[in-house]
Amino acid sequence: MSAELWNSAAGVLETNWSGDHMVPSRRLYPHQWSWDTAFIAIGLAYVNPTRAWRDLRSLFEAQWPDGRVPHIVFDPATAEADYFPGPAFWGVPAYGSRPAHGSTGLVQPPLHAVAAWKVYRRAAAHGAACVQQAHAELQWLYPRLVAQQEYLTTHRNLGGSGLASIVHPWESGLDNSPAWDAAMAAVPADLSLLTTYHRRDLDVADAAHRPTDLDYARYVGLVLDYRAGDYSDTGLLSRHAFAVECPSFNAILGAAELALAQIAGVLGHTAEAVAHRERAHRITRAIVDNLWDPRTRIFHARDVRTGTLSPARCVSGLLPLLLPDLPADQVDGILAEARSERFGLPLSTTLPVPSYDRTAADFDTERYWRGPVWINMNWLLRRGLLMHGLRDEAEELRAAMVRLVHRNGHFEYFHPTTGEGLGAPTFSWTAALALDLLADRSVPAYAKAA
Ligand code: SER
Repeated sequence: MSAELWNSAAGVLETNWSGDHMVPSRRLYPHQWSWDTAFIAIGLAYVNPTRAWRDLRSLFEAQWPDGRVPHIVFDPATAEADYFPGPAFWGVPAYGSRPAHGSTGLVQPPLHAVAAWKVYRRAAAHGAACVQQAHAELQWLYPRLVAQQEYLTTHRNLGGSGLASIVHPWESGLDNSPAWDAAMAAVPADLSLLTTYHRRDLDVADAAHRPTDLDYARYVGLVLDYRAGDYSDTGLLSRHAFAVECPSFNAILGAAELALAQIAGVLGHTAEAVAHRERAHRITRAIVDNLWDPRTRIFHARDVRTGTLSPARCVSGLLPLLLPDLPADQVDGILAEARSERFGLPLSTTLPVPSYDRTAADFDTERYWRGPVWINMNWLLRRGLLMHGLRDEAEELRAAMVRLVHRNGHFEYFHPTTGEGLGAPTFSWTAALALDLLADRSVPAYAKAA
């Protein structure tokens, strides 16, 4: 089974390579996406590290002068009509060294430092020339990764607690997660925008598996508002209808500081390594202080405009487990939730965990982030389990992910009861993470001592 799955995963990454970047999928997502690039690099580290670095470089070459790393970097070879919302819609002025490559003005979870560190650590397996290349690439990336963190922890510190706010659901990567329902209810929905703009995703994917038109009208409206202010974050809270602190985005923000500490260490920046560790600690503290709900005993998204926590129990609320300093009480709460019938670690269902509480009245087995199983969230959860020495649970989850992808293919997401593949059929991050899950059976070096 391993060789067959390995070869099919490597085949997907070959098919989706576009010269200097990877597309998530040829038809549905024909450009470069930010957090996809991080997951993809983690898999490319095994089969083509040169492409892993090239892909990360392509993304960071499009970094804005203020440090933000755009959530999509547009491929000039792809027609405007092949993706909505494309470069003309975003209207981002030329900047940086690649003016031909337009971008969006939004961000995505900053997983790239974690990915870069993993690609670097894997280099030794490919020989001395690869180690040398990895060192040079880390040197190039390091200041850019630091600038990305600085953008998120200053410009996007809208709530003032040191956490980064997302200002659009797309920034979470979990587009239509129920975590945003309460905050999104206050966002005006102008359905007439969908007669002005055509939803290209519905031409190439099943409408029942995608966000609704009501969601999309709000997505488009939020971009138009942010664009009207030239994507400036100054005073944003008072003039923008959506600002939320997401537990998984911020857990990744903290994990990035820890990866940066490792990277700073190998680059000889000892004092900076200490500062990164301190920042990770502060982010962990802020997540616990602001996003923990003692009644549900998991983390929830906080609407920064109202100060309230979303009532929804989403997989994103389990991901602060990625942080090694997370207090025992929070670790216990997350583990109980992951084992409960709401998420059911594979013991009960034999499937990886769903994106949303299985017992919720509005659990939707097909619609994007409102129920289906996603490999990237499960990969992050497994990393969190290992971080806290929960090896048996981590191994169950690893086996369940491998089984699911082997049986059903490298789909974008999966039906949480039948395991049927949904969304894009040859999806890059599913393939990339399958490679890592096949290769990485051991307890990684980042795990805390048990
Ligand atoms: N995930 C969004 C899409 O579906 C945009 O990032 O296109």
